Amino acid sequence: MIRDIVIYPDKRLKLISKEVTSFDDELHTLLDDMYDTMISKKGVGLAAIQVGVDIRALIINIPNDDSDEQPKENTLEVINPIFIEKNGIEKHQEGCLSIPGIYEDIERAKHVKIEYQDRFGNKHTIEDDDFLAVAIQHECDHLEGKVFIEKLSFIKRKKFEKEWKKRYKNTL
Ligand code: CO
Repeated sequence: MIRDIVIYPDKRLKLISKEVTSFDDELHTLLDDMYDTMISKKGVGLAAIQVGVDIRALIINIPNDDSDEQPKENTLEVINPIFIEKNGIEKHQEGCLSIPGIYEDIERAKHVKIEYQDRFGNKHTIEDDDFLAVAIQHECDHLEGKVFIEKLSFIKRKKFEKEWKKRYKNTL
């Protein structure tokens, strides 16, 4: 089921999400709904808080190179992630379903390794130094109440806020 996406500057995006302790049907339904919601907006990642649930859960599904498909079985479901390695620097263009239509180059670590749990509570590790590393860092920021535009320079941030306000006025 597709859920509503929380749009910037909604205050819920600033919440620090809570650790997941029960890996039950409610969590599974949430993860399934997050997939439907992300696909409906052609996104590649979504954190639970973006559908208004403040728990440490996120999904990532990067389309296959040759097709644009994002089959459900390719979805990486990440619960209670912890960074165990983070190094290098790389710039990548990022966007966010909570800030639709805005794309900016953001500097992050090139390589990350995380420890996390799956929907059943089993522990895993994953590491990457490509676009998945970017997506992991972007989505993990949501769990800390942060959005990517906070990483922009002062000038760029001001420009964004001005544009965003204008856009809001036109749609409301
Ligand atoms: Co985002």
